[in-house]
Amino acid sequence: MSTSRTIAITGASGLVGTALAEAFAADGVRVLRLVRHPVSSSAVDEVYWKPSSGEIDAAKLEGVDLVFNLAGKGIANDRWTPAVKKLIIDSRVNSTRLIAKTVAGLENKPRALVSASAIGFYGDRGDETLDEDSPPGEGFLTETCQWWENAGAPAWEAGVRVAQMRLGMVLSPKGGALAKMLPIFKLGAGGVIGSGEQVMSWIALPDLVRALRFVGDVEAMHGAINATSPEPVTNRQFTKTLGQHLGRPTLLPVPEFALKMAMGEMSELLLDSARVLPKRLSEAGFEFETPGLATALERLLK
Ligand SMILES: NC(=O)c1ccc[n+]([C@@H]2O[C@H](COP(=O)([O-])OP(=O)(O)OC[C@H]3O[C@@H](n4cnc5c(N)ncnc54)[C@H](OP(=O)(O)O)[C@@H]3O)[C@@H](O)[C@H]2O)c1
Repeated sequence: MSTSRTIAITGASGLVGTALAEAFAADGVRVLRLVRHPVSSSAVDEVYWKPSSGEIDAAKLEGVDLVFNLAGKGIANDRWTPAVKKLIIDSRVNSTRLIAKTVAGLENKPRALVSASAIGFYGDRGDETLDEDSPPGEGFLTETCQWWENAGAPAWEAGVRVAQMRLGMVLSPKGGALAKMLPIFKLGAGGVIGSGEQVMSWIALPDLVRALRFVGDVEAMHGAINATSPEPVTNRQFTKTLGQHLGRPTLLPVPEFALKMAMGEMSELLLDSARVLPKRLSEAGFEFETPGLATALERLLK
């Protein structure tokens, strides 16, 4: 691959951003990281931005090939108080609007803005099969995702291709939900959550990185695109598969009321059900390396 290609990433220090930057760098692509701290003159691959105040060093982004927008305050760290909810929304909407406006105003615009969204868009949908044509659900995450996706408007209005990747639960031992579960399961204290019937739509981090790059490269990929494996599982299946992989028992269920008491509204991250399929990725010919959970866990945890 050409060494003259340059891509830019927001949220580059995060779980997905780190892996994406590593993958591009390994192919000789120059990676510009948008950072929220002051940038010294020697940090040539860092671009200052501050989404909360709308500041950005736009000139450094002239001529980049692709922009990946992965910024946002973590949603599973703090109880969802009104202040935390506001930060969850603002950190996505302000960031997306700022990067979208910025690429819209560049003289040499990127080929695409590939922006994160989440399957939270679909809400709590039982066993219904969901794809990109399904309407949004209801609730805080659904609304957040809609505002988040719409914040990309300045870019598409300026003729830049914009893809909103609706990420499922990203699996990696390095961070996110799986990293949180692993110590509990390794102790033999893992168990089914609530009824265990809620469907979990997941994607292994290496497949997500490949999917993000695929969408960046394929001109036909714009609009909403589900980034989930084609084989979602129930929480019961997930629990059993992870326990089997680790050779640990998973006999301790976590009752719904206990979770709601401990986590408040945030418990919906574990209790909501969404069977999301990657229709657009599959139709475009994207192939998952690990479509099944057992193989994904084997690869991720070896
Ligand atoms: N991981 C998942 O399972 C999952 C599922 C669905 C959707 N997503 C979405 O996909 C994106 C990437 O996920 P991830 O797992 O890589 O997230 P992550 O590890 O939490 O990283 C997100 C990055 O966003 C930046 N950030 C944090 N707080 C911010 C704020 N207040 N304002 C602006 N930027 C802020 C930080 O990067 P800097 O410090 O470098 O700015 C942070 O490293 C996120 O938007 C996330 O919501 C993730």
